[in-house]
Amino acid sequence: MIRTKILGLGSYVPDRVVTNEELPYLDERHVRQATKQTETDDAWIQKRTGIKERRYVPNDASVATSDLAHEAAKRALADANLQANDLDCIIFATLSPDFHFPGTAVVLQRKLGLAGKNDCACYDIRQQCSGFVYGMQMADAFIRTGMYKRVMLVGAELHSHSLDYTTRGRDVMVLFGDGAGVAIFGPMETDDARAGIVYTSAHADGNGANDLNLKIFEINRLPYLDYDPRDREHNQLMYPHMDGKRVFLNAVRGMVMSTNTALAKTGMSWDDIQWFVPHQANLRINEKVVEVAKIPPEKVLNSIEIYGNTTAATVPLTIDHWRKQGKVKRGDRILSSVFGSGFTWGAAIFTF
Ligand code: UT7
Repeated sequence: MIRTKILGLGSYVPDRVVTNEELPYLDERHVRQATKQTETDDAWIQKRTGIKERRYVPNDASVATSDLAHEAAKRALADANLQANDLDCIIFATLSPDFHFPGTAVVLQRKLGLAGKNDCACYDIRQQCSGFVYGMQMADAFIRTGMYKRVMLVGAELHSHSLDYTTRGRDVMVLFGDGAGVAIFGPMETDDARAGIVYTSAHADGNGANDLNLKIFEINRLPYLDYDPRDREHNQLMYPHMDGKRVFLNAVRGMVMSTNTALAKTGMSWDDIQWFVPHQANLRINEKVVEVAKIPPEKVLNSIEIYGNTTAATVPLTIDHWRKQGKVKRGDRILSSVFGSGFTWGAAIFTF
């Protein structure tokens, strides 16, 4: 029987570290000012979110989301001992694409040197913080059916350019960071139902669509974009909006539910799983999920303290981070559960 295995994994974060101490002093070009631009502080951010610092790209227009993805993709290819030319499909999960269309997968395809060469299929998916698990479900289906043999799944985000660096936007602004994670999947012949990708689930509830979104424009309007981006009073569509409490409660509910269902449907227990790698939106969300779902605390891996929320990138970034620290090893079984804007959520069990 054909099952799907992870052939390689890589991640990338930009060099600039923005601490909670520095963050309130940044202006909208991320330049540190003498006085606070946003009323927030390290104590509030750490207490409510667990975040200490995050990474930002340079402010000189030299880096786009596809560049973050490209760096992570090169590392994943090296890890898999593959060349870009071996890929026959790219699935790109992001809420911060290089531009509105086409999707960012084709941009990455070109940066990998594949444009016009091997006809590598390109998909962009829009499931925000759930993008990596949704993408893993797609990759698994493509490989099991024989549709594609080498699928690159990308989670990459450039948040720092689209945040509101005023007190108005502080609830969202403090959460997010830039980064990318990439996994490459391929087929293996095995009768072991616990090998490779064991299980994936993907859920959605459109009732949550207004609880966390970034509109930028509304296509039903003429003109569909009618504000001056430099006019801070009237440019609210430019920035993410969030009902934090509703997102928090639904995230805990969705991640607990999908974690427990994943175990029930596979007949597995925490004895069969080495690591729980939840989406990294808020350390307090993850602590609550761990408490309610009775997950052994020593199996939980987080990275939000140092990277913030990198949306579609959090799961591969966290796995790669803890692999570099020597904790996660090839062959370990991981359960991931995720929740994001939409609302969308899901879980996956897979052998790394
Ligand atoms: O991947 C999915 C993406 N997002 C999430 O998962 C986020 C889920 N939600 C959360 O993580 C939390 O709701 C937040 C961390 C965003 C906010 O925490 P909270 O405990 O729900 O705070 P709150 O929104 O109820 O605000 C409490 C107070 C308010 O002041 P008043 O009205 O009590 O005077 C806020 O204005 O904290 C204020 N506040 C801040 N103060 C300092 C909100 N943001 C900040 C801030 N710094 N950054």
